Amino acid sequence: MMIFDATLRGSLLLSMFAATTLLSGCGGMKGNAAHGKELYAQCQACHKPAENFVGPKHCGLIGRPAASVPGFDYSEGMKASGLTWDEATLDQFLTSPVAFVNGTKMGFAGFDNPSDRADVIAWLRKMNDDPTICPKKG
Ligand code: HEC
Repeated sequence: MMIFDATLRGSLLLSMFAATTLLSGCGGMKGNAAHGKELYAQCQACHKPAENFVGPKHCGLIGRPAASVPGFDYSEGMKASGLTWDEATLDQFLTSPVAFVNGTKMGFAGFDNPSDRADVIAWLRKMNDDPTICPKKG
């Protein structure tokens, strides 16, 4: 009986683990950075990774408070947003910038597809970790 119990519990745990892994895949927790890089071409109409352009630079983005790049002229809406950029806030912002940040001047419609958003965020993260794209300071 003991052995049977342990096996049962083991396989139950295993299937729970499989379900969680599957769910987090569907939830877009893990993006595909290679596809994100392709989508990022759309951002590059206005953004350069390491310098300000039409939009602020993206190097250093993850973990940075919104509207905090020196020398970039942000909208009042972005300055008042009180956001910090992480996976969750970026996911909401990239769904519909104007809906999420009232008064933003980012002229980008957004991505309807959650996996597109996860992929772009994965690329933003990867880009930030690549010193050939985002040189580390000091
Ligand atoms: C048409 C030009 C344009 C496009 C395309 C565009 N952006 Fe922007 N982006 C801006 C502008 C302008 C701002 C500043 C917004 C403000 O001050 O309200 C901005 C701001 C941002 C911010 C906030 C940065 C900060 O320092 O607070 C993020 C994050 C961002 N963009 C990500 C993206 C991503 C990712 C894409 C591609 C999916 C993208 N943007 C496409 C123009 C653009």
